[in-house]
Amino acid sequence: MTQSQRPRHVAVVMDGNGRWAKARLLPRLLGHQRGVEAARKVIRGCSQAGVECLTLFAFSSENWKRPEDEVSGLMSLFMTVLDREAEGLIRHNIRLHFIGDRHAFSPNLQAKISQTEAKTAHCTGMRLLIAANYGGRWDIIHAVQAYLKAHPQADPLTLTEQSIAPYLSTAELNVPEPDLFIRTGGECRISNFLLWQLAYAELYFTDKLWPEFNEQDLQAAFVDFAKRQRRFGMTGEQITQGTDHA
Ligand code: IPE
Ligand code: IPE
Ligand code: MG
Repeated sequence: MTQSQRPRHVAVVMDGNGRWAKARLLPRLLGHQRGVEAARKVIRGCSQAGVECLTLFAFSSENWKRPEDEVSGLMSLFMTVLDREAEGLIRHNIRLHFIGDRHAFSPNLQAKISQTEAKTAHCTGMRLLIAANYGGRWDIIHAVQAYLKAHPQADPLTLTEQSIAPYLSTAELNVPEPDLFIRTGGECRISNFLLWQLAYAELYFTDKLWPEFNEQDLQAAFVDFAKRQRRFGMTGEQITQGTDHA
């Protein structure tokens, strides 16, 4: 795969854990636990493929609406996984960041998140962004608030995309916008994931439920991505003639 055929940033909605468990008459939480194994495979696969940044949607700002026992089960799963996986991330030179409003989490979980981020801060390989209590609308509002705080005298009419973009949660981390969006579980929707950042991402949907998604499925998504012609508003001819879209 040439460099332009390979996505630099992959963003994934890991959906279908609950249905996977239900089909096996298992509690939903077991589906989430199996989902962690799928996440590990995709992290490894992306890192080996030379992807610079992988963003995994782990918990949306709307997922608080779920039954209490599922929410608390997910919170303890996050704690366990952070404890268990930190060493592996360091071994693979992967730097971890959380995006989303972490203040809603328990003080223990917030501390664990910060500690794990700090432990991997020296890693120079792939960036792994975990979107937790994340919402695309929240991200945009938060960015506008941060801009206005930094520029209290700003004239609203001078506000541009370039004013707001640097304050988005992903921009702060200096990662490119997602090139490839993958959603498992058969639903063809964004569910308030990276609304702004996905503007020109290639969208890839698969019926596979997340716990069953593996390295081959990731490769299939990469192959599909490599066939797409990204036009960014231009004509196909302009792209084949090599016009620079930047
Ligand atoms: C995605 O799987 C994981 C989270 C939202 C935390 P789901 O739990 O949404 O699985 P389904 O969609 O019910 O099958
Ligand atoms: C999106 O999945 C959120 C995560 C995968 C974390 P959902 O299962 O919450 O999305 P909807 O409710 O089907 O749109
Ligand atoms: Mg779901």
